[in-house]
Amino acid sequence: MCGIIGYIGDKRAVEIVLDGLKRLEYRGYDSAGIAYFVDGRIKVVKCKGKIKNLEQLLEHENHQVLNSNQKPFVAIGHTRWATHGKPSDVNAHPHCSGGIALVHNGIIENYSELKRELMQEGFKFTSETDTEVIAHLINKYRADLSLEEAVREAVKRLRGSYAVVVIDEKEPDKIIGVRMESPLVVGVMDDEKFIASDVPAFLNHCNRVIFLDDGEIIVLRKDDFKIFDLQGKEKKKKPQTITWTASMAEKGGYKHFMLKEIHEQPRSIADTIRGRVLPDGSRIVYKEIGISYEELALTKKIYLVACGTSYHACLIGKYMIERIARIPVEVDIASEFRYREVPFERDSLFIAITQSGETADTLAALRYAKKSGVKTLTICNVVGSTASREADGVFYTHSGPEIGVASTKAFTSQIVALYIFTFALSKAKRANPADINEIFLSKLFHLPTMAEKALKLEDKIHQLAKEVYKKPNFLYLGRGLNYPVALEGALKLKEISYIHAEGYAAGEMKHGPIALVEEGFPVVFIVSDDLYLEKTLSNMEEIKARDGFIITISSSKEEKLKKLSDRFIYVEGINSYLNTVLFSIPLQLLAYHVAILRGCDVDQPRNLAKSVTVE
Ligand code: F6R
Repeated sequence: MCGIIGYIGDKRAVEIVLDGLKRLEYRGYDSAGIAYFVDGRIKVVKCKGKIKNLEQLLEHENHQVLNSNQKPFVAIGHTRWATHGKPSDVNAHPHCSGGIALVHNGIIENYSELKRELMQEGFKFTSETDTEVIAHLINKYRADLSLEEAVREAVKRLRGSYAVVVIDEKEPDKIIGVRMESPLVVGVMDDEKFIASDVPAFLNHCNRVIFLDDGEIIVLRKDDFKIFDLQGKEKKKKPQTITWTASMAEKGGYKHFMLKEIHEQPRSIADTIRGRVLPDGSRIVYKEIGISYEELALTKKIYLVACGTSYHACLIGKYMIERIARIPVEVDIASEFRYREVPFERDSLFIAITQSGETADTLAALRYAKKSGVKTLTICNVVGSTASREADGVFYTHSGPEIGVASTKAFTSQIVALYIFTFALSKAKRANPADINEIFLSKLFHLPTMAEKALKLEDKIHQLAKEVYKKPNFLYLGRGLNYPVALEGALKLKEISYIHAEGYAAGEMKHGPIALVEEGFPVVFIVSDDLYLEKTLSNMEEIKARDGFIITISSSKEEKLKKLSDRFIYVEGINSYLNTVLFSIPLQLLAYHVAILRGCDVDQPRNLAKSVTVE
């Protein structure tokens, strides 16, 4: 998830693009760059770090920008959230080939094949990004075609997601944009045009917009625009007027980043899966993980270590790996693990799960494992973070920047990453017949759609929140894979609403917590349609007998379950493993709506920080 903006018109293009990048910084902030015309040539200025670093660099260049009298003024810019290639000056966008410069948001799944082909044809690569293949491809086709045609031919070769904005020294009066599964919106004024990943980038200049659809290519001139499909057929689209304010637009029309991130999950889950698994489940791409098939085959024990929400993902991973790949797993909280002086067993694999890649305790645990000579892997969201640099292998979750302090989409992507990783292990260890692996893996492709369905429960959850937001205590209960889901549900509620909430394994309930239950005490049960159903029903009876208020989140339509529940939320499920993602969505929404009703600051809850870099 990166931010893109382009401008063509008679105003100072570099200034407009720089300002737009600042407004898009929430989409990514590890490096930034701009390309603009100076006397007929494209000049690129880019660097690692936040936009202010780029701004300082541009101040040095300013005389050139101001002295250029070439009209119209054209510039494109990018703020990066790295996916392929660490954050660095060379990996920053724009990327160039011949007289072409472009910026890209998305992930090109087949970039290694394309890179190999282009290198054989003599194209020189200067970065580690997937984006550079697009620049070289367009340059290659540009030899015989117009820029539009070359862009069209180039994108037909791409697999994955992209929003690309291109300029060309040979055709300096135009900007071309194209999209596939990554957003691109165009701002239309009579004698100037804007193109960006999101409306706030230019909303202060223009509120007449056209949202591009997948497979559309737009050719922007200062006073004209044309939209084509990938076959070159022209399409007519009329601009619509945006009535949001800039800050509403930044959050995609949502009131808070947390809510936006909850709603982004169908997309973020798809991005975690993208390029890792073939749709029929027959192949998992290992290379990028940095741990070979042979090493996985030798693994005898796994240590999963993390903090907070990421620790709950570890617990889900334990159930998956032990059941499916048949390898014993030890899970630990990083702040405990780092001082426990764990004697590692031979052929162990240590996995640190961390959204930020900067959590101090998790890093200390990772370093301890490395020092002990154990192979290390991190499941991490932030490309180029400390964990990703220090671990032997990295499985990036690619869920995009998470701005809300309470982790939501990063958590569900961690579960998806663990699911894929579990099947990689299972295949390497030959723990299951091949067709079972394939059946289970192909189920992943239903997850984004099912997550959409789970999001549709929001109105129901909002009503429920209105009934319970004044309660001072909550208990969350689940068995098996739903036990960590219960822990995470309780953590979400307590961290953003400040209500005391505890998660427990449902079977443990009568060993203490049941003493809390009295009339109206809210107990949230998370129940799959699996071997735990019967047992959980008995636990519900025990709560009912004490007049507790039972809220059930379940993929089962079992009558008894409904009868015992005071409120019943049915979530259409896939299987017990992937249901952990689907159940987490209503729990996130419940925490969010309760916190809002209590007047809490959900994006920045008191006493918390997004990245805990101290012990
Ligand atoms: C809770 C939350 C925290 C983090 C924890 C670890 O919503 O976000 O509990 O999960 O601080 O952070 P990472 O995953 O960045 O290591």
